[in-house]
Amino acid sequence: MLTANLIRTKRDGGVLSEAQWRFLIEGFCSGEVADYQMSAMAMAVFFKGLTRTETADLTRCMVDSGERLPRVTDRPRVDKHSTGGLGDKVSLILAPLLACCGVDVPMISGRGLGRTGGTLDKLEAIPGYQTKITTDQSSRVLREVGCFIVGATETIAPADRRLYGLRDVTGTVESIGLITASILSKKLAASLDALVMDVKVGSAGFMPNLESASELAESLKEVGAEAGLPTIPVLTDMDQPLGRAIGNAIEVNESLDVLAGGGPKEVRDLTLRLSAEVLVETRMATDIANAEATLADALDSGGAKERFEKMVHEQGGTLSGHLPLGEQKDYVAYQDGWVQSIDCPAIGDAIITMGGGRRTVADVVDPCVGIDLHVRIGDRVERGQPLWTVYESQTKCPPIDPVVLSETEVSPRPLILE
Ligand code: URA
Repeated sequence: MLTANLIRTKRDGGVLSEAQWRFLIEGFCSGEVADYQMSAMAMAVFFKGLTRTETADLTRCMVDSGERLPRVTDRPRVDKHSTGGLGDKVSLILAPLLACCGVDVPMISGRGLGRTGGTLDKLEAIPGYQTKITTDQSSRVLREVGCFIVGATETIAPADRRLYGLRDVTGTVESIGLITASILSKKLAASLDALVMDVKVGSAGFMPNLESASELAESLKEVGAEAGLPTIPVLTDMDQPLGRAIGNAIEVNESLDVLAGGGPKEVRDLTLRLSAEVLVETRMATDIANAEATLADALDSGGAKERFEKMVHEQGGTLSGHLPLGEQKDYVAYQDGWVQSIDCPAIGDAIITMGGGRRTVADVVDPCVGIDLHVRIGDRVERGQPLWTVYESQTKCPPIDPVVLSETEVSPRPLILE
């Protein structure tokens, strides 16, 4: 088999067999298929798509590129994954929160992808936090804490780890087949009993409208079911960032607030709902309302925050309150009005420009840069009122005007769409 022929087949709209995907993924992991060839293949897939069978085959080959994590307790194993969006820090809160409710959360997460931030980059803003630990270490943390958050490694979903890095910088993220295989390969490697998928819809995520997001949700549900993993998709709004904080250290700080029972309501509400779905799926709660009440208690009692601190400690991190941020600059409203929209691409690009995201695979992320949005779509604002704050470090924030105001009233947007 020749890699160039496989790329040509896909480029011309053909369908590859499982054996051909296996050849490609095995070669990619061993170094026989070069990064530039895999990037070309990702671009061909971006344009021509994958059939459902190809998506399932690719997912299986990516899982088989590494090991599966062993089950180390009798507790149900659950997880949540998001298709990615600005300000999405739910994973940091959800893992320790669910661990407080008697389930294990062995979370294998990703780095920033395109304009969206990554859970691993956020956690690495905490001094000492190790996202790369051995399987034995992660099993010990799971037994003792009930959750861990790590990255794909050379042994766990290595194909995703490498392909993810290439897609981030080659404009090949927004593909239903590649997103499905990327997410499910990590989740299947974690030997889960149930997965809730937060499928983001809107300009701050990868699926711009309900139609494409529903297609991705179907793909995740079907490929997950075929691989024996019950996958519950929830479609949620991403036409504005989730919560106020966008950036790495700043999102850890907001997560700490939510873990302590405070923080923005939309971050708390979404975390409760997604967590409730897996508690019901694994029969740890009878219904969503019941599950949400139990979860809310774990936030308000401080139990979830304590669990987060324990996880951070066990993974080598040192946390003593909020993390330091860059130099602060505030921007105010130049007129009265209502918030009509938020320019999410401008915010995402500004964070990357300031060093909070990557332009190339080798870039090192600066955790201190970030943006704090003080308003949400539909909010009434008055001239002179603070709209957003930027935290800059080495590189200044490019000129942006991320909050668009209207002179007429605007309705708030619903958070959970389907
Ligand atoms: N999250 C992932 O893990 N992979 C993707 O491709 C997109 C979002």
